[in-house]
Amino acid sequence: MSAEQGHNHPDRNLALELVRVTEAAALATAPLVGRGDKEAADQAAVDGMRYMLHSVQMDGVVVIGEGEKDEAPMLYNGEHIGDGSPPQVDIAVDPLEGTTLAAHGMPSALAVIALSERGTMFDPGPCVYMEKMAGSAEIADLLDLDRPLGETVKLIADRKGHAVGDVMVVVLDRPRHEQGIAEIRAAGARVRLIAHGDVSAALLAVTHRSPVDLLWGIGGTPEGVISACAVKCIGGQLLGRLWPRDEDERTAAVNAGYDLQKVLDCEDLVKGENVFFSATGVTDGDVLQGVRYPRAGGATTESLVMRGRSNTVRRIHAEHDREKLRALRGGRAI
Ligand code: FBP
Repeated sequence: MSAEQGHNHPDRNLALELVRVTEAAALATAPLVGRGDKEAADQAAVDGMRYMLHSVQMDGVVVIGEGEKDEAPMLYNGEHIGDGSPPQVDIAVDPLEGTTLAAHGMPSALAVIALSERGTMFDPGPCVYMEKMAGSAEIADLLDLDRPLGETVKLIADRKGHAVGDVMVVVLDRPRHEQGIAEIRAAGARVRLIAHGDVSAALLAVTHRSPVDLLWGIGGTPEGVISACAVKCIGGQLLGRLWPRDEDERTAAVNAGYDLQKVLDCEDLVKGENVFFSATGVTDGDVLQGVRYPRAGGATTESLVMRGRSNTVRRIHAEHDREKLRALRGGRAI
């Protein structure tokens, strides 16, 4: 960040510009919610996000994007975004986190973006999945990927002064989690199974007075980095350990220099305090309301807009005029 961004005077909060970017992605996706076509929904989100992202003055490189250039013509890993003026930033995007959720009209699909200083974001390389655990500041020191889950939920109950039966762990509903789920239940704690969307689940787990105490399970590594950016802004902790799906992936990761034993914390996943995050709800969820159409030609959005340096968390409710936006955007669907 520039020298002008000193300690004693207000500086630019990029998150306040990023909210327009996630709003644009969510608004572009909403007409496709519930239509059963996740590729079309994702494409609309990418188009909406990219269109608005170019209005942000920055010299950005996509570190977490839609994939390699060949498969993803837009917002691909390595793509340069912005007008090239400072600040130099790393960008993580998930224009539609929960493509299936959106396609099926299910809860908690989000449009998400995070920015940090150049060179500070963890690059997942060939590592598709990581084991993750996240919780609020109150229990951050209790997180441990090696301790049996049954013991961890009991420690959480003690720390919070609850019965273990009050503890709720959010877990992606996948066969690979059967044993972990059994351990949590055997200890007496409860499990909230979700079909998709562990960024939204991580946000819920680190939020104070949340209905969920802990996130655990194996999910996307890119989503892990994005979640870590959010945790840096809200507080709490997220731990991750790379989880290769097979021998080929293990070999590729080791050859690329990744340490598969290492437990990564938020600081490993995104370094420093200059982290900016914005998420806008696409469908209704525990964390954010989705896009709604309360009147003909109008739309509302709800976004979480946050910054690591100040830990300011803003919840922005916006009303949009779809006709005017469509005209301003050269006829693009909103
Ligand atoms: P998409 O938005 O790409 O569909 O990802 C949704 C998601 O549920 C993530 O939240 C999660 O990290 C990952 O997929 C889990 O992967 P998988 O569905 O392969 O278990």
